[in-house]
Amino acid sequence: MFAHLRPQADDPILVLMRAFQADPRPGKVDLGIGVWRDAEGRTPVFGAVKTAEERLWRTQDTKSYVSFAGDPAFHAAVGDLLLGSVTRPRAVTATTGGTSAVQTLLALSQVARPAAQVWIPAETWPNHRVLAEHLGLATRAFTYLAPEGTGIDREVLLRDLAQAQAGDVVILHACCHNPTGIDPDPELQAEIVDSLARTGAVPLVDCAYLGFGAVPEADAAFLRRLASLPEAMLAFSGSKSFGLYRERVGLALVLLEQPGVVEAVQSQLTRLNRVNYSFPPDHGARVVTEILADPALRTAWEAELAAIRTALSANRQALAKALRARLQSDRFDGLAAQSGMFAMLPLGKERVMRMREDFAVYAVGTGRVNLAGVTPRTTDRVAEAIAAVLRD
Ligand SMILES: Cc1ncc(COP(=O)(O)O)c(C=O)c1O
Repeated sequence: MFAHLRPQADDPILVLMRAFQADPRPGKVDLGIGVWRDAEGRTPVFGAVKTAEERLWRTQDTKSYVSFAGDPAFHAAVGDLLLGSVTRPRAVTATTGGTSAVQTLLALSQVARPAAQVWIPAETWPNHRVLAEHLGLATRAFTYLAPEGTGIDREVLLRDLAQAQAGDVVILHACCHNPTGIDPDPELQAEIVDSLARTGAVPLVDCAYLGFGAVPEADAAFLRRLASLPEAMLAFSGSKSFGLYRERVGLALVLLEQPGVVEAVQSQLTRLNRVNYSFPPDHGARVVTEILADPALRTAWEAELAAIRTALSANRQALAKALRARLQSDRFDGLAAQSGMFAMLPLGKERVMRMREDFAVYAVGTGRVNLAGVTPRTTDRVAEAIAAVLRD
């Protein structure tokens, strides 16, 4: 039965990770995998998470099943975090991380409209396309970055989106766009919302970095604008924002126009869970609920998030400054104003490979760098590598 199977191509980020680990050179720099790290290269557990876990350890008296869609208190807590005071008819489920939130919402779209096309930004988290294609959904790319790579091509993006049909799905990043770090400004956000209102295409908003660009309220601004549309889908990941990567915290939320359809959509979400994993994981979701529901814990969490944000921003500024000095050019000044954990350096694959070979600086082949890896200890080496590969 299995003898004819061939290995799948490895995920490029895992290949990069293995190459980095095998590299014996001292001072090597990992700008690859999308995990927050402090200046010492650690990904610590948030203090607020530790406190919430300790409370749960003391008070939780059962590990019995919860429900197919997870804990309603988690739905409410994350719903409020994302949408604030917006009250709309909605169907919602906990998922196994943000990946499964995106997957579940794509699968729901397919159930609702098998012919739906999924519009995906040309620059995006690679799994968007992989998940849609795995389900057998048709995908279309829409333009995101302008050719020089330092800003969004507003006109072409809007021209592409105008081709979407009613009932198509448009994947958008809530904030801290992965991989570019470049988000639409409020004016473009409003134009995108208008475009979707005109075509009747439905946004699937992927929110994996809430709080990494600005305070959570501000990082939720685009998402909240999109939530004014008759229908919208939100995929939340707790991996980065709560540092709960391995606990697999996610939420899929569908905003609906008519209260009458909530029951049907909710039962479809429940069924998708049933056929995938029955019950979503609960521990991380309960930790998040505890943090968001307790004002002191929430303040502590927001302070820890602010520290990550400040460090990422400092790393950005330092890299932009170091590149300005080395290249005697303002070419990379825009880096400083970008948002979140990533930037995409317009270097091309060959130069990225040379940075790896000549300087032991490991970026993803597309030129995506994780700014968490550009610390006070590594900035000079990274800037030197970029400047050198650009010079020759
Ligand atoms: C844009 C985006 N969406 C979703 C995810 C999924 O995160 P997870 O499944 O680890 O919660 C990631 C993770 O890197 C991401 O970058």
